[in-house]
Amino acid sequence: MTAHLPIQHDVSLRSHNTFGIEANAHRYLRVLSVDALQAVKNDADLAALPRLVLGGGSNLLFTGDFPGLVLHMCSQGIEVTDEDANTVYVRAAAGENWHRFVRWTLAQGFGGLENLSLIPGSVGAAPIQNIGAYGVEVRDCIHAVSVFDFATGEIRTLDNAACDFGYRDSIFKHVLRDRAVVLNVIFALPKRWQPNSRYADVAQELTARGLVAPTAQQISDAVIAIRTRKLPDPAVIGNAGSFFKNPVVPKAQRDVLLAQHPQLVSYLQPDGSFKLAAGWLIDQCGWKGKSIGEAGVYEKQALVLVNRGGALGQDIVRLAHAIQADVKMRFGVLLEPEPIFI
Ligand code: EPU
Repeated sequence: MTAHLPIQHDVSLRSHNTFGIEANAHRYLRVLSVDALQAVKNDADLAALPRLVLGGGSNLLFTGDFPGLVLHMCSQGIEVTDEDANTVYVRAAAGENWHRFVRWTLAQGFGGLENLSLIPGSVGAAPIQNIGAYGVEVRDCIHAVSVFDFATGEIRTLDNAACDFGYRDSIFKHVLRDRAVVLNVIFALPKRWQPNSRYADVAQELTARGLVAPTAQQISDAVIAIRTRKLPDPAVIGNAGSFFKNPVVPKAQRDVLLAQHPQLVSYLQPDGSFKLAAGWLIDQCGWKGKSIGEAGVYEKQALVLVNRGGALGQDIVRLAHAIQADVKMRFGVLLEPEPIFI
């Protein structure tokens, strides 16, 4: 029944998740086009299996083997689809590597994505958690997202508003979670580009480089340097970037915390609430550089949990729970994980 699809059995996912966790997929398929997704939907046996759509594997934690079908999005292709007086529209396939795509846009002279340089993962995953860094979120440059809808078997295009983007959040994590598979993303990049270098780390790096009026490419180079210094390279030490979201609390709660902890790092949000630096909270609890077995807290950034070798997903979960309990006890704030637990 499934002979036409090159489905593999019991495939190791270790090299397909940036945490480097050993876990097996019961069934595994490299997806190069929407035809493969149609074929899966039309096959009663395959369609009945639990599904996991995998991109670069940089925002998930395997807590055990996956007992269903992994759809590994590997489609390639980048093209300029349209332009008007103010904007260039670029479509990129879900399987494209995110950082390579950012560098491609910069090489064409299109700014807008430079602050998001060197984020691990794929183009298709970028809108799902609305990746962000250094004062920019990907939603700022997304025009539309095309998806395959497993419920109807149709291709749908969601405009920016329909994606319901939030901080590390979108509709693809909620009502469309088990339905929509991102096929490609259409970006709207500004022709009259303005640098966004307000974020302290970026401003300092540009000053250190003597750049007063940086180009988009120079901002990208600065961001790459900052990330390389502060964050572990998943090719060397397994990790999924920030393990927790920065918690957002009401002003009254932040004021009480600030009175108790004058060094508290917090950022005012447009709605009057405050985002707290989770890395600072974890650091204050003494976790930086510590480990439980092979699961550890990165020495240079307490918000990043790392696999020091042969950690299992459950080891990372145990460490995360211990950190959550300490932060809750000391600051009364519950940290919410950023990666999806599988
Ligand atoms: N801090 C500490 N100790 C630490 C880590 C951080 O005191 O161990 C303090 C820093 O000194 C700073 C503050 O916490 O004052 C914030 O740290 P940082 O600028 O490194 O940023 P972050 O809040 O930890 C967020 C994003 C990152 C993104 C950076 C830069 C989240 C969950 N994380 O990290 O995104 O690269 O800002 O914009 O919003 C990711 O999502 O995977 C990710 C890496």
